[in-house]
Amino acid sequence: MSALIEFKDFNKYFGTNQVLKDVSLSVESGEVIVILGPSGCGKSTLLRCLNGLEVAHSGHLRFDGRELLDKKTDWRQVRQHVGMVFQSYHLFGHMTVLENILLGPLKVQKRQRSEALAQAEALLARVGLADKRDAYPRQLSGGQQQRIAIIRSLCMNPKVMLFDEVTAALDPEMVKEVLEVILDLARGGMTMLIVTHEMAFARAVADRVVFMEAGSILEHNTPESFFSNPASARAQQFLEKFSYVETMPKKTRLKELS
Ligand SMILES: Nc1ncnc2c1ncn2[C@@H]1O[C@H](COP(=O)(O)OP(=O)(O)OP(=O)(O)O)[C@@H](O)[C@H]1O
Ligand SMILES: [Mg+2]
Repeated sequence: MSALIEFKDFNKYFGTNQVLKDVSLSVESGEVIVILGPSGCGKSTLLRCLNGLEVAHSGHLRFDGRELLDKKTDWRQVRQHVGMVFQSYHLFGHMTVLENILLGPLKVQKRQRSEALAQAEALLARVGLADKRDAYPRQLSGGQQQRIAIIRSLCMNPKVMLFDEVTAALDPEMVKEVLEVILDLARGGMTMLIVTHEMAFARAVADRVVFMEAGSILEHNTPESFFSNPASARAQQFLEKFSYVETMPKKTRLKELS
């Protein structure tokens, strides 16, 4: 079976600063990859290249059988298949939850309202927010808004979901409800690339962990090996910092992680 996503010898510069260096990463359909690494190592940039928010310098990036680094790539088309959720949820404040979710399916994908509505309602029920369909974003908690942002992406029927620190801005009590939605997606076979600072979650959700430093992938590993016996000294140092943080009281811990 060929990979759904394949980065090969992939390089990206910002000016003269090379932020991705010969990155090669293959992702099969249904796989969950967690990308870990210190701040500034290029995790967000890697995800952003996959939906055209950043343009790469050289190498290959194949998605679903197509080379995306081709100048003729229609990114509007590609983005329909690549869902991305960030730290901040960017729901439209003047639209209800349902209007937010249906915008892409109706305006971009030109789907039948009845069919898209049925899917939106099913997704709302799946994340326990069926009763919020007519609420406005300001009437929801951060965790609820983030769950809506996730199902807004899902309602486009993407082939892959990219998550970039989706719980980083949430209060600790709301982190769990959002991570549970992502775990549920993993159980359902969704292909996902996840950047997170929640190590217990990373271990639970990942089929494979990719550890990056300074723009390069240092290690591909199973979560079991990565967390108990990382191959690189750098990954070991990175994990030590987290195990130290885990032992601190919650409030201090949040400051440390930010
Ligand atoms: N728009 C930009 N212009 C110039 N440099 C950038 C830009 N975006 C990111 N960079 C640089 O690229 C490098 C990788 O940044 P990136 O945001 O991908 O790191 P990250 O691993 O996601 O970090 P963090 O964990 O802090 O989110 C950093 O050195 C950063 O300063
Ligand atoms: Mg980032």
